Amino acid sequence: MKRKTSKFINLLQKKSNIVMLTAYDYSFAKILDSCEVDIILVGDSLGNVILGYENTLPVTMEDMIHHTKAVARGVKRALLISDMPYKSTLVPKTALENARRLVDAGARGVKIEGIDNFESISEIIQAGIPVMGHLGFTPQNVKELGGYKIQRSPQIIDEAKELEKVGVFSIVLEMIPPELAGKITDSIKIATIGIGAGPLCNGQVLVTYDMLGLYPNAPKFAKKYVDLEKEIRKAIKEFAEDQSK
Ligand code: KIV
Repeated sequence: MKRKTSKFINLLQKKSNIVMLTAYDYSFAKILDSCEVDIILVGDSLGNVILGYENTLPVTMEDMIHHTKAVARGVKRALLISDMPYKSTLVPKTALENARRLVDAGARGVKIEGIDNFESISEIIQAGIPVMGHLGFTPQNVKELGGYKIQRSPQIIDEAKELEKVGVFSIVLEMIPPELAGKITDSIKIATIGIGAGPLCNGQVLVTYDMLGLYPNAPKFAKKYVDLEKEIRKAIKEFAEDQSK
């Protein structure tokens, strides 16, 4: 049974160990949901791990809608958030239409990277769609940021405060030094969810394919909890051997 979104978000604010993972398809979504993961993110990281692109820039609204629909079929309990892909939030009116399309596909809120698109974020929140922010290393700015680099600017504290003021319900902090992530977390009342940002956030998120050992280019900070690639290879070998018996 799905919990009412606003009630669920209020509950999350009071939790200090929020667990968030990505899913891109029905089968994974069903497993994560049954493991009581708090937030399931249809991340635009699907561009890397599912579609094999070098970065998330080629991911389209159609890709996000397609995968959001698949994930939504497997989620009964968790808060389902979908990423707004590259350039989908440039114009506030279009941004709202795009956010609505993701909600129609089954998302209960959207995640938006950065703070440049402040007006769009505001417009979407005003329309009643919950928005999660994303600061620090923002993969959609990989070119402007000069690659995958830790973001150390103290300005991120002010950005987090601005996002809180406009009404986002939580903020992902990616690749930020732990002390800075702790300072940001202490400066705002909404939940921070870290990825490569140390333990001082209110929760942690990982790309599921990274933590399961399924994606060969996983970042160094992502702890591998199991080597599923090895297990899959073993199973395939066994299957092939069965055929030659
Ligand atoms: O796209 C994604 O999977 C993300 C997470 C890394 C937070 O944005």
